[in-house]
Amino acid sequence: MLFEQRTVTCGELRAADIGKTVVLNGWVHRKRDHGGISFINIRDRYGVTQVVVDADSAQELLDRAAELKMEYCVSIRGTVRPRPDSMINPSMPTGEIEVKAERIQILSRCAPLPFMIDEATDAKEDMRLTYRYLDLRSFSMQKKIRLRHEAAFAVREYLVGKGFYEIETPTFIRSTPEGARDYLVPSRLYPGKFYALPQSPQLYKQLLMASGFDKYFQLARCYRDEDSRGDRQPEFTQIDIEMSFVTREDVLALVEGMMGHLFKKTLGVELPAKFVRIPYDEAMDRFGSDKPDLRFGMELLDFAPYVDGACSFQAFHDALKEGGAVKALVVPGKADYSRRQIEELEAKTKVYKAHGLAWMKVNQAGALEGGASKFFSEPARIVQGLGAKPGDLILIVADKKKKVACTALGAVRSQLGKDLGLCDPAVFAFAWIIDFPLFEFNEEENRWEAAHHMFTMPQAQYHDSLEADPGAVKGDLYDLVLNGYEIASGSIRIHDPDLQKRIFRIVGMTDEEAQRKFGFLLEAFKYGPPPHGGIAPGFDRLVMLMAGETSIKEVIAFPKNSFAVSPMDQCPNDVDERQLKELHISIVQEK
Ligand code: AMO
Repeated sequence: MLFEQRTVTCGELRAADIGKTVVLNGWVHRKRDHGGISFINIRDRYGVTQVVVDADSAQELLDRAAELKMEYCVSIRGTVRPRPDSMINPSMPTGEIEVKAERIQILSRCAPLPFMIDEATDAKEDMRLTYRYLDLRSFSMQKKIRLRHEAAFAVREYLVGKGFYEIETPTFIRSTPEGARDYLVPSRLYPGKFYALPQSPQLYKQLLMASGFDKYFQLARCYRDEDSRGDRQPEFTQIDIEMSFVTREDVLALVEGMMGHLFKKTLGVELPAKFVRIPYDEAMDRFGSDKPDLRFGMELLDFAPYVDGACSFQAFHDALKEGGAVKALVVPGKADYSRRQIEELEAKTKVYKAHGLAWMKVNQAGALEGGASKFFSEPARIVQGLGAKPGDLILIVADKKKKVACTALGAVRSQLGKDLGLCDPAVFAFAWIIDFPLFEFNEEENRWEAAHHMFTMPQAQYHDSLEADPGAVKGDLYDLVLNGYEIASGSIRIHDPDLQKRIFRIVGMTDEEAQRKFGFLLEAFKYGPPPHGGIAPGFDRLVMLMAGETSIKEVIAFPKNSFAVSPMDQCPNDVDERQLKELHISIVQEK
């Protein structure tokens, strides 16, 4: 079918266009009939234009207009005319005009819609994902996908301007399962062998530095077989960056500049030139999290000074005696919290293995009452010391492991931030978390493992004592956090093969195993590798926060659902027996 191509988009006509004959191509957004006149709103990516079919139009036109239903795809020719005064719509960019229809061509029809487009829809997520192409027609989704596009463009613009090359690295790589599980791709030509999809281009970007490329970036697709969360998808995109001959300062400054450019270009938001820096230990102490939300204060306080002769709460004494911590949180004005509300917060602490959440209230006289208050004989000292006011709620977690006390109360702090409306999505609170421990002890496996990855440089002052006290070693490692999310991780890398081998040994990897898994990297590092470092902001998370959303699915055109399934094309799916045979694979059904 030949169709009349548009001469204008649905978002561009203004009063200056009155009198012009135009052709619009788009979708029937809304339609209403009023005293024989049809008002048809036509929508495309650019906006909405009101088309009017007057009551005295030719019968053929009236018939065609009567046929139109929502989301029919149409081509409409007509003349631009001013709207009657009573119909001028200042909130609509095309609200001064309307198009008097002269010809309507139906380009395709639309089946009954599973949900309304662009209306506060209560369509369930799976419904939206099954009909994602319809969901994407809505202005809100179009806006988010446009923001993503503009963000990608701004990032490229900035990095290319700084002399970076965008270089693609392979997506069929050697499986080196560390961190998350790999997605595997069976090889047809080599029965029983597999490629892995990259969890990140980490090793390749380091090899590019060994190749002399100096400044590399890539909007890289990464794949991780891990449990889904609001801020995680099995496939996602990183702004992967690596640089040679740099220190931590160079990497942080580059990212600060890139974020500044990105936010200014896409949102018109001016970010501070430098982001605050918080050492890991301090972040855990003050916020109980290595990704603190800095849009609000309510910091964790040290309750240990009050666990003395005036305190008869044995659990608090025990926690401190065993080298742990007692941490407190003052929640302003929330002495009216019910027991149920406090129990809900307590449930959060249990996720982090705390034994419970103690509470007390500051009454209007400024004295402590309820909950744990009976254990304290000098309440005034506590109220004053914690800076609490009448009407405040005090929450306390004690544990013989300091990390448990901090993270458990940190989770309460995060929840309260949300519950009390302290997390304004229009505020962007960035911070660098620095000086992370290089190793973490895996109690289940009774061994040290890399806190980030094994290629991170230990800070220089620890190079002589790595093996003696792995737990004390800090890495040249940094995370960028934004509004309570980790949006980037990076480090200065090891470029000395001997130091690299020591790290492998500390995490319990034999030389033979290290050679088998990473031999190619160790080999490359025999040939004059440069000092190098880098970082990888998670692009989806970043755009999610820029869009004021709390799920990365909202900024990905075709995401998987929480079960790693695409309800639209129903993948993962069964494959033909013939395909499996070619791949030398047989499926074993679990009983
Ligand atoms: P890391 O594993 O910390 O570091 O990942 C970097 C950033 O990627 C984002 N991210 C995710 N986003 C969505 N879904 C996921 N499943 C997911 N996993 C991670 C996060 C995270 O901060 N190669 C190193 C980086 C480096 O050292 O240069 C790496 O991948 O925002």
